Amino acid sequence: MTASSALPAPHDTPLDLGGRTALVTGAAGGIGRACALRLAAAGAKVRAVDRDAEGLEALAAAAADIGAVEPLVLDLTDLDAAEAAAAGTDVLVNNAGLQLVRPIEEFPPDVFHTVLTVMLEAPFRLLRGALPHMYGQGWGRVVNISSVHGLRASAYKSAYVAAKHGLEGLSKTTALEGASHGVTSNCVNPGYVRTALVEKQIADQALAHGIPEERVVAEVLLQDSALKRLIEPEEVAQAVAYLCGPQASFVTGTSLVLDGGWTAH
Ligand SMILES: NC(=O)c1ccc[n+]([C@@H]2O[C@H](COP(=O)([O-])OP(=O)(O)OC[C@H]3O[C@@H](n4cnc5c(N)ncnc54)[C@H](O)[C@@H]3O)[C@@H](O)[C@H]2O)c1
Repeated sequence: MTASSALPAPHDTPLDLGGRTALVTGAAGGIGRACALRLAAAGAKVRAVDRDAEGLEALAAAAADIGAVEPLVLDLTDLDAAEAAAAGTDVLVNNAGLQLVRPIEEFPPDVFHTVLTVMLEAPFRLLRGALPHMYGQGWGRVVNISSVHGLRASAYKSAYVAAKHGLEGLSKTTALEGASHGVTSNCVNPGYVRTALVEKQIADQALAHGIPEERVVAEVLLQDSALKRLIEPEEVAQAVAYLCGPQASFVTGTSLVLDGGWTAH
């Protein structure tokens, strides 16, 4: 059998992660929750990590009829705990994130530090925890939820843009180191997704740009998007599922951009 004939035909390959363990950070809400549910539906046992215990409980309840979700309440600024939590995972989805919109000269240094810790250093520590098992079995999938802001900057988002650009570099390095061990690593880069993170920044953006909140979505957030709508968390989760599936086994070290045409400019 040739390598290519060993690949299943595209039309008959639903994602099957039976027997696999997936760790999703920031799983209590938004994109992370959608990813946890998608991977559980594919048969994975999902370790759902978040500092929001209530959100994780709601996720576990929502997953009851879908698949196995095991909540783990953890603040990712506890980097040692993050590394330990990742041991034994086959699929790692680095998703947790936070945003603050402020000009650099007013940006609180402690918040900058926290954003970099949660969105860049924690993924590094989770990789340290996860890779030995992946390498040992010769298979693993790393998906980093980056952003258009991993590829482009926006004013007033210094910490977020810096963290996402760093995550792009970490993801590519992981791809190079993991290739000979059957481990792929990729980023998924959405434009604005309909989640709490976006809803929370509308007021901040209104203040920073000096316009009313109702004009922020169309005039600020979607200004550069050809498609004038927010993307849904479930659409991002489908991209994650694709990167975990057999059709994506040659896809590594890249960034899957779901931005409604933003970076086509
Ligand atoms: N919403 C968007 O428009 C958008 C666009 C591109 C990329 N992203 C990225 O997608 C990811 C998820 O964002 P979202 O929109 O679903 O946001 P969200 O606010 O709905 O979810 C983020 C989750 O991360 C968790 N989290 C934050 N800090 C944590 C910490 N210290 N320890 C543990 N958990 C922590 C939160 O509790 C929350 O459940 C982020 O990395 C974000 O940068 C979002």
